[in-house]
Amino acid sequence: MAFDIEMIKKVYSQYDERIAAARQVVNKPLTLAEKILYAHLWAGNATEAYERGTSYVDFAPDRVAMQDATAQMALLQFMQAGRPKVAVPSTVHCDHLIQARDGAEQDLTRAKNESSEVFNFLSSVSNKYGIGFWKPGAGIIHQVVLENYAFPGGMMIGTDSHTVNAGGLGMVAIGVGGADACDVMAGLPWELKFPKLIGVKLTGKLSGWVAPKDVILKVAGILTVKGGTGAIVEYFGEGAESLSCTGKGTICNMGAEIGATTSTFGYDESMERYLRSTGRADVADAANAVKQHLTADPEVYANPEQYFDQLIEIDLSALEPSLNGPFTPDLYTPVSRMREEAEKNGWPLKVEWGLIGSCTNSSYEDLSRAASIAKQAIDKGLVTKAEFGINPGSEQVRYTADRDGLLKTFEDLNATIFTNACGPCIGMWDRAGADKQEKNTIVHSFNRNFAKRADGNPNTYAFVTSPEMVAAIAISGNLGFNPVTDTLINKNGEQVKLDPPTGDELPSKGFDVKDPGYQAPAVDGSSVTVDVSPTSDRLQLLEPFPAWEGTDLFGLKLLIKAKGKCTTDHISMAGPWLKYRGHLDNISNNMLIGAVNFFNDKTDFVKNQLTGEYAAVPATQRDYKASGIGSIVVGDENYGEGSSREHAAMEPRHLGVRAVLVKSFARIHETNLKKQGMLGLTFDNKDDYDKIQENDTIDILGLTEFAPGKPLTLVLHHADGTQDSILVNHTYNAQQIEWFKAGGALNIIRAKQAG
Ligand code: F3S
Repeated sequence: MAFDIEMIKKVYSQYDERIAAARQVVNKPLTLAEKILYAHLWAGNATEAYERGTSYVDFAPDRVAMQDATAQMALLQFMQAGRPKVAVPSTVHCDHLIQARDGAEQDLTRAKNESSEVFNFLSSVSNKYGIGFWKPGAGIIHQVVLENYAFPGGMMIGTDSHTVNAGGLGMVAIGVGGADACDVMAGLPWELKFPKLIGVKLTGKLSGWVAPKDVILKVAGILTVKGGTGAIVEYFGEGAESLSCTGKGTICNMGAEIGATTSTFGYDESMERYLRSTGRADVADAANAVKQHLTADPEVYANPEQYFDQLIEIDLSALEPSLNGPFTPDLYTPVSRMREEAEKNGWPLKVEWGLIGSCTNSSYEDLSRAASIAKQAIDKGLVTKAEFGINPGSEQVRYTADRDGLLKTFEDLNATIFTNACGPCIGMWDRAGADKQEKNTIVHSFNRNFAKRADGNPNTYAFVTSPEMVAAIAISGNLGFNPVTDTLINKNGEQVKLDPPTGDELPSKGFDVKDPGYQAPAVDGSSVTVDVSPTSDRLQLLEPFPAWEGTDLFGLKLLIKAKGKCTTDHISMAGPWLKYRGHLDNISNNMLIGAVNFFNDKTDFVKNQLTGEYAAVPATQRDYKASGIGSIVVGDENYGEGSSREHAAMEPRHLGVRAVLVKSFARIHETNLKKQGMLGLTFDNKDDYDKIQENDTIDILGLTEFAPGKPLTLVLHHADGTQDSILVNHTYNAQQIEWFKAGGALNIIRAKQAG
């Protein structure tokens, strides 16, 4: 699908020189992750060694991938950059907005009706700006990317946390916010803290009921949901080479569940097989020519403890099939202990649903192994006790699985085949009876199982496992069923045992597809118009933010002094607001509604200094804006932690907040504020937080000499006529000060394009 072999060859052509430069500065053997990172420095050849976990480094990713929910704001922003085309190959994938209910065809038709304006917008903007567009029903972003775009040794960013899936094909692929995607598409560098490195040595070989999923379930059990934070996990060893490419994808995919920046595997024959079977023999040939660069230096794997910050060893031969959950993906229980654990903890043993799919486990191999269990059930006269739902990962997988009879096998077990889309994995599942909120158990092959994630019911106990184990457990209808040792009673009253799954790593007759659902962009998009209705409540074209007026700021009102934790979720809530992600004005009605007001301990209840009344935060701010008065938000420690959601910076900017002053920032949010042309400031003396009073009017002085490292001064005019002068710091570099002056980073890019 128009993967860019020339781009890939160019990346590989630079590898020799870039890795030689990296080797010189690092002065020791390089891991695979280091090779890929150093080969993608924005500045070209490395001139210094970066400190893992400390240095902030600019990178030049090769690709950008976006899903339909997050692409909206990324592309609305990109349109502001004034470029005729994206600077790097990019794709949009419509997979999040399709609800599973009746089955693929009906569900897809309904979704196309309900979200037509979003799909039309994404299609037209992709067409105009040179972006590959994957229509609703074409598949789940990460499966489609693995099948079409991922390549060994490449670097990609994507507006979805499971972008990391492409590590299965040897990439460094990282999930980011829309603002980062916009920057890279607009031709700007992408900044990342140089990650720490965790090595996972895999020995032995999988067998029987044990699947690649069990590897990552085990790793999650060891590292927990936070253990990978700020690190790249690099898998290696003979066990790694024995895994299929899509199996490696499964393992990398769930690296997101341990908080890892990404995970990756060195190039090997499984990747070559996958590339050739998915129509990319030329990529395989190009990769073979630079093979030595697409895996770590041999010394690294010989003495891994010397080169990784942390090392884990897993013997695949000793691994057990397992289930993680409920409510968290790191609670590891081998299948052999599940009955006991469930009884001890009061987890319902009766299983209501078995779901196979999601970007984690929806490959041909996954479906074929699960289908082998379904086939046995039919042949052995078993009737499935739980309901069954399948979301194939892509139209290519679906079409091929249909051709090879796999879907028919599932249907013979009364499974519902849902659209090739995220569906239940993202809560897009109209599950009958979920509103009754009954305590119940489901098993699925997805990655996340937080409360309410799949069906909105807080009492659904969701367990994550391999597709074949989902099939076995759904057939038995019992969470405690261990297919390795247990038997089931068939419709003739006989005891039968399921044999271990079998399956094909790749379809023996090759992949096939009639209409993959891809729309190539126009060669010249200049005459393409972008479809956004001015009356839409879901989409709104952005207006450039105004430039700085060139003076210090006087008479700002305190909007809210937030107390304690204030994450991007407190600043811009998700849930029902998701549907306004493409409409800045509408989504701004959630601005800071989750933040706790220091003065009354309430949320979304602040004093409007113009009226003296207490009201919602967004309404109060709109009042200030209407009166031409700027405002300031004050916050506590680590303000803006959580996701990289750019809306948390855009909403205050849109509604006229001029500065955010906090004890400390979460770095991504601080950068997002800077990109939007806002002032992100920190107290020089954290105790000055206590000097901020509810009725304060505030001046910001020193902006006319705004310079790196030079503090600014705030004058707090209190209601009793007294005033305090406090020093505030900032981390703006010269470039970021230009962003502030221009009213935002995109204004600068646009000016450059125009000039
Ligand atoms: Fe979609 Fe679930 Fe993956 S939402 S992208 S299938 S994690």
